[in-house]
Amino acid sequence: MLPKTIEWADGKVKIIDQSKLPQKLEIIECEDADRIVKAIVKMEIRGAPAIGAAAAMALALTAYKSRGETREVIMRRIWETAEKLRRTRPTARNLFWAIERIISRIEGEKDGKRIAEKVIQEALRIMREDIEINMRIGENGAKLIEDGDTILTYCNAGSLATVYYGTALGVIRTAWKQGKKIKVVAAETRPKLQGARLTTYELMMDKIPVTLVTDNTIGLLMQRGVIDKVIVGADRILKDGTTYNKIGTYMVAVLAEKHGKPFYVAAPTTTFDLKSTRREVEIEERSPEEVKEICGCKIAPEEVPALNYAFDMTPPEYISAIITEKGNIYPPYRENIMKILCL
Ligand code: MRU
Repeated sequence: MLPKTIEWADGKVKIIDQSKLPQKLEIIECEDADRIVKAIVKMEIRGAPAIGAAAAMALALTAYKSRGETREVIMRRIWETAEKLRRTRPTARNLFWAIERIISRIEGEKDGKRIAEKVIQEALRIMREDIEINMRIGENGAKLIEDGDTILTYCNAGSLATVYYGTALGVIRTAWKQGKKIKVVAAETRPKLQGARLTTYELMMDKIPVTLVTDNTIGLLMQRGVIDKVIVGADRILKDGTTYNKIGTYMVAVLAEKHGKPFYVAAPTTTFDLKSTRREVEIEERSPEEVKEICGCKIAPEEVPALNYAFDMTPPEYISAIITEKGNIYPPYRENIMKILCL
């Protein structure tokens, strides 16, 4: 398996540079929060839970560098880092969750040294918990996988999208470890190619059979009955089960419904957003240039306008179950999500 996606290393943060994969496995050493902010923006680290962990680590680095400062100075710096983080990737719920969780831990704390310690400890706890959560998602999700299944996954909801192990790929990993002879179909996931570059790389490293297809091959595979089930991750899930995930997920969900195949979403409960309505969720729009090139090579006329939404919205009626660390949630989601989240 890959090493951890992100790690605290004595006052520095090490990140696998996902923009270089699969050609090179390079580690970025971040010495300050601004470097982590840049890594999130450039998608050197990506995937909602990994972005949440990176935000926690950015706050920890700020706290670490401010040890010895007064409460006022530390708090101001934490707020500044939090503000920069909030402006990076608006759809990933885990980013905001991690910031809120850390800030809530230090509210009311008077002593500067204690504030710095608490921020670092809480950030490290978030990292540890993410791994435990993914292991449990793997176990819960593997109950839905049968020997011989061919599973379609979209984008990368693997170890690289989390601190370690993954959500959708965590389910696949656990099923494989249980001895189920499964096969995976990975869609390439234009424009950033997380499926082609990252999902296939991770699965091949674990020797799990995987076949790469272009995104527009999925319909044909569904028609031919090749796909038994779909598992994807999520960037944000609303209280009625509405799921935001990589652009193209909705298209896959509609195809799964049309062909009577289960469509599962695997995500930690930290991805749930119980407050926002669909209207309030911002779908990240990225540079049109990403659509007009593939790995730096221009593929469209210079002047053509392009749209680059990073995520789309899948309504709950297309989702067969939501796999979480607390259990698998089935419709009616509005009721059952609350039941699970209150556990
Ligand atoms: O733009 P990305 O690569 O950050 O998008 C990632 C996804 O859409 C993942 O499916 C999602 O974050 C869940 S990862 C466990």
